[in-house]
Amino acid sequence: MGIKSTLEPRWSSQPRAMQKEQGSKVKMLCFWLLVVFAFAVTKPSRKFLKLWQEPNVLADDRLANSPSFEWSEIVASNELQYHDCYDGFQCARLEVPMDYHGPIESSNKVALAVIRRPARVPVNDPHYGGAVLINPGGPGGSGVAKALVHGALIQQVVDADREPSEAEAEDKYFDIIGFDPRGINRSTPILSCFQDNFARQVWTLQSEAEGILGSSDGSLRLAWRRARALADGCSSRDDSADGGPSILEHVNTTPVSADIVEIIERHGQWREHQGIQAQEAFNKAHRCHNNLDIVSRTRWQRGMEKLQYWGFSYGTLIGSTFASMYPERVSRLALDGVVSTDDYYNGPWNTNLVDTDQIFVRIFEYCNEAGPDQCPFWRPGGAKAIQAAYEKLLHDIWDDPLSVVGNKRRGPEIITWSDIKSVTKNALYQPVILGPIMVELLQDITNGTGSLFADYKEKSRVPAYRSNECILDGPYSEACVSPGWNEVEATAAVLCTDAEGIGSFTEDEFREYWQSLKALSSSMGDYWAETRLACGGWQKRAKWRFSGPFSANTSHPILWIGNTLDTVTPLRNAQYMNSQFPGSVLLQQDSEGHCSQTAPSLCTAKAVRKYFQTGLLPPVGTICQPDIRPFNLQGDGLKDLSTKDSELLDVLKQIAKTMHFP
Ligand SMILES: *[C@@H]1O[C@H](CO)[C@@H](O)[C@H](O)[C@H]1NC(C)=O
Ligand SMILES: *[C@@H]1O[C@H](CO)[C@@H](O)[C@H](O)[C@H]1NC(C)=O
Ligand SMILES: *[C@@H]1O[C@H](CO)[C@@H](O)[C@H](O)[C@H]1NC(C)=O
Repeated sequence: MGIKSTLEPRWSSQPRAMQKEQGSKVKMLCFWLLVVFAFAVTKPSRKFLKLWQEPNVLADDRLANSPSFEWSEIVASNELQYHDCYDGFQCARLEVPMDYHGPIESSNKVALAVIRRPARVPVNDPHYGGAVLINPGGPGGSGVAKALVHGALIQQVVDADREPSEAEAEDKYFDIIGFDPRGINRSTPILSCFQDNFARQVWTLQSEAEGILGSSDGSLRLAWRRARALADGCSSRDDSADGGPSILEHVNTTPVSADIVEIIERHGQWREHQGIQAQEAFNKAHRCHNNLDIVSRTRWQRGMEKLQYWGFSYGTLIGSTFASMYPERVSRLALDGVVSTDDYYNGPWNTNLVDTDQIFVRIFEYCNEAGPDQCPFWRPGGAKAIQAAYEKLLHDIWDDPLSVVGNKRRGPEIITWSDIKSVTKNALYQPVILGPIMVELLQDITNGTGSLFADYKEKSRVPAYRSNECILDGPYSEACVSPGWNEVEATAAVLCTDAEGIGSFTEDEFREYWQSLKALSSSMGDYWAETRLACGGWQKRAKWRFSGPFSANTSHPILWIGNTLDTVTPLRNAQYMNSQFPGSVLLQQDSEGHCSQTAPSLCTAKAVRKYFQTGLLPPVGTICQPDIRPFNLQGDGLKDLSTKDSELLDVLKQIAKTMHFP
C-alpha cells in the first residue's frame, strides 16, 4: 500500500517495525517491509487501533530508552564486539570480505549489522543453549529489525518453558541473533540506486500513481519502461570504492551463506572469551585454580561451529543454501514458508501462486461464517455472493476510481483498482490479521465515503526531502540516503543475481509470462509478475555463485514448516525440499497465509520448541491446526488452556500481529 514501486520484495516475513530511528531523519516506511501506522486518526475504528498501534508503541518506548545509539559510531571489527543498544539488545558490526575470493584489503569489505537479544541465562550457565539466528526473508528483509520486533517473542517460543531459576537438566535458553545481510539496511556499504531520499520518493509516488500491472490498458507499457529505467541505471552503476569490488556483484545468497559461517565462528570465539572471564571470576570467588568446567563448556570449536537457525520465506532459501554448502555445520535448521531452490535459482518463478486463489476463497468463507458483526463486507447468500460483490467492486473501480475529499489530516485522494489489489494482497499474506482490515476497507468504499481507505493510504507515507546536509555532502552521501529505504533495489540485486538469466526476455515474452501467472492466480498474478519484471535487463552478475546440488545429508536433520495453503511458498515446494534432504521432516500447519507465524498454532510452536530444545523432529506426517482463524474464529481447544499455554498463545498472537509482508 502507499508508496511502493514496481520493484518489491516478495518472499518475506518481515516484522512490521517501529521506525523513526534517528529523530529527525524521516523515513519511507511504507511498502512491504516496514509499515508504520502512526495512527493519527481522530476516531479510528477499534479494530484499527488494536491492530496497528501496538508495534509503534513498542518501538517508541524502545527508542526513547536508547536515544543515543548510532550504528555508525560502532567501529566495524572482524570479531564480534558488542555494544549495548535498543534497550536490552547488543549490537555489533562484523567485518567480512565482500569478495571471499578477492584480495584482503580495506576496499574489499562489508560490515554486517548484527544484533543480539541475550539469552535469559549467562553464557557460562550450563543451560545456555547458544545462539539462534533468524532471518525474515525478502530478499531485502532486515534481520536486525526482525530481532528488534520479534527477538524476545521468538525467544519465548524456542526457550524452555520453565523460568531459568527452575530449569531442569536439559532445559536450554538461547540468544536470538538477527543480522542484516550484505546490502541490506544497516550493513555497509549501503546499496542505493537513488542519489537521495527525495529522488526515491518521487519515483515511488509516481509508480504508485501509475498503478500495478493490469491497472490500465497501458499498464505494461509504463511498467516495462519504468523497470528498464531503474534496472539499467542501477545495475550498470559503478559503485565500487577505491577500485574495490562492487557490492551489486556480491549480495547473492552464496556469500550470505559464507557470512553465516563467519557469524557462528565469531560467536564461538566470543563465547569462549566470555567463558574464560567467567571461569576466572568463578575460580577466584571459590578459591580454586584448576576448575575448567566453564572453559570446556564454552570452548570455541574453531572451524567446526554449527548453526541454529529459524528462517522464514526467502530466509528458508538462505537456510537450504547454507545446508547444501555446509551440511556438516547444521545443528538446528527450522525453515518456515519454504522456497524451492529449484524454482528460485532456475526460474521462471511460476510455481509460487498455485494455492493463492484458494486462500482468497477461504477468506470469503470465513467472512460468511463469521457474519456481519465480525465481517463488515458480509452479504447474504453465502461466501460466493460475498466474493461476487468483491469482484463487482473491483470491476467497477477499474475505470471509475473513487474520489475522496481531503481533510485536516490529509490531502484529497483517489482509491483505485491498484489500491484494492494491494489491500487484497496483504490479506492473502496474512488472512488472520489483515483479512479483517481488507473487508473493513472494502465496505468503506462500497457503502461509505472512502475516508477510512484514504487514511489507510496516508498512513504508509513518510515525507522525504533533500536536506541542506545532503546538498552539502553530495549525492549518495549518508546525509542523503537512509539505510533501510533501499528494499526496492536490494531485493532486485539479490533476486536477479541469484537467478542467473531470469532477466532476459522481450516485452512480448514478458506479457506471456504475466498472462500465465494471471491464469494461475487472478488474485495475485499481476503483482507477482512485477517481481520478475524488475530483473529485466539487470546487468550485474554474481561473482561467486554456488551451483548446487541443493541437497545434502546434513549433520542434523532439517525441520521444514509449510502451511496447507501458503500465499507464495506453496506446500508442494516444501514437500520438494523435504525430499532433497534425507532425514528431514515436514510439519504441515493447516492454515492459510504466508509462513506459520501468520496463524498462531500452539501445536507448531511446541514442535519448534522441542526441536530447538532436544533436536527431536515431529513424527513424519504431522499436521498442526491453528488456534486462531480469520475474523476471530477460534479453534476448539482454546477453552481449557493451561496458564503456560495461554501465555505461549499470547506470544504467538503478538508475533502474528506484528508480522509484515510486501
Ligand atoms: C450503508 O450505510 C448506511 C448509512 O451509513 C447504513 O445505514 C447501512 O446499514 C449500510 N449498509 C450496509 C450494507 O452496510
Ligand atoms: C533497519 O534497522 C533498524 C535498527 O537499526 C531498524 O529499526 C529498522 O526497522 C530497519 N529498517 C528496515 C527498513 O528494515
Ligand atoms: C546421503 O547418504 C547416503 C548414504 O551414504 C547416500 O547414498 C546419498 O547419496 C547421500 N545423499 C546426499 C544428498 O548426499
